[in-house]
Amino acid sequence: MKLMVLGGGGREHAIIKKLRENPKVETIFALPGNGGISYDAQCENINALDLDRVVDFALANKVDFAVVAPDDPLAKGAVNRLLEVGIPAFGPTAEAAAIESSKVFAKELMRKYKIPTAEYRVFDSAADAIAYIEAADRFPVVVKADGLALGKGVIIAENLEDAVNAIHRIMTERVFGDSGNRIVIEEFLTGPEVTVLAFTDSKTLVPMVSSMDHKRVFDGDSGPNTGGMGTIAPNPFYTDEIALRCMKEIFLPTINAMNAEGRPFKGCLYFGLMLTESGPKVIEYNSRFGDPEAQVVLPLLETDLLTIMEAVVEERLSDIPVTFRKGAACCVVAASKGYPGKYETNLPISGLTEGQLEAKGQPGPVSVFHAGTKRIDEGLFTAGGRVLGVTAVGDTLQQAVDQAYAAMETIHFDGMHYRRDIGKKALLLTSEH
Ligand code: AMP
Ligand code: GLY
Repeated sequence: MKLMVLGGGGREHAIIKKLRENPKVETIFALPGNGGISYDAQCENINALDLDRVVDFALANKVDFAVVAPDDPLAKGAVNRLLEVGIPAFGPTAEAAAIESSKVFAKELMRKYKIPTAEYRVFDSAADAIAYIEAADRFPVVVKADGLALGKGVIIAENLEDAVNAIHRIMTERVFGDSGNRIVIEEFLTGPEVTVLAFTDSKTLVPMVSSMDHKRVFDGDSGPNTGGMGTIAPNPFYTDEIALRCMKEIFLPTINAMNAEGRPFKGCLYFGLMLTESGPKVIEYNSRFGDPEAQVVLPLLETDLLTIMEAVVEERLSDIPVTFRKGAACCVVAASKGYPGKYETNLPISGLTEGQLEAKGQPGPVSVFHAGTKRIDEGLFTAGGRVLGVTAVGDTLQQAVDQAYAAMETIHFDGMHYRRDIGKKALLLTSEH
């Protein structure tokens, strides 16, 4: 089979590695892929958002199956376009991807179908939003741009001044463009955060092993938010009891709600949850695998990924037993100096084995997923804010964490930084029990 994967980050690398395990797979085209992905797939310099070119390429190269991994081509209708020309494609249609691409849509869905989430109001004028926050006088308060904003559209304002600044940046300066036409002002919730990815064909929903992201750039959850500096799976805060409750109160109601709205969701649905004192609540939905959640969840998946994805597209997910191996995984992200702000690129990367997919010191259970790299002949260079996701699988979380960090020690590029405490909170909780 010939597969095509849209996207070019660490998540796509993890997806491609997993898809390769199926012996039916002959070729994987990555559009555009990246330096590390080029060792596992044939990279094509085509922007995943250029849907005309994507569709032409898929037809010309007789692609048998496509996976659309990132949020923006999904929101733009990449899956709709591929299905129209008869190419089976994993991922939601644009109509279903609205669950991520419009926070207003997601919040209204949850309100209408009584899915637990933070209280909120929607505004299309900065003055009205500010007047509301002034009158409510409750801080912190959460300000969210309606549309996609590279994970930067959420601001937790500690006081009125911060809230007013956030609203002006989004609605007046329009730093996220049209994504800031409307905003959601939301109640601030507290509690441990859990990510649950789920395969769904709109009839059946199969949750994957839970995970925990580490969104802030520095140790101890300090500094600005990033796309994610590391992940672990499973998430020990997510007990079996909570999982049952989420299935009943959140997961199934969500796919039922999407069906009722005439927007059946097929693909990977991402539930960003907060375990509050009054129960689990939805912080956000994403219409895709998380990045870097995919980098810890997929290595634990025992079932063949392509088999699952085909079943999702053909709406026969209930026929496929999906299993995960016991044990745990840890992914630590190595980022460029300055990330999530401005950063330099084109710096040489050292310490990876030939093939660039393992750390020299630590082959075996460690995989290096490339997020932002560029290959020139056999040399690898940085090409993004998040550069590498060093991932280890172990029988215990402690083992996975230790192995990922040992591998990280051997890798180097100028200005490279990474958090030293990925998994720490989870390990503390596990040791308390
Ligand atoms: P998002 O970009 O939607 O994932 O949000 C980024 C982060 O902001 C989340 O992972 C949470 O830590 C935090 N956040 C979002 N909404 C809320 C909320 N209502 N209460 C508390 N924290 C929130
Ligand atoms: N890691 C968070 C996300 O993929 O949105």
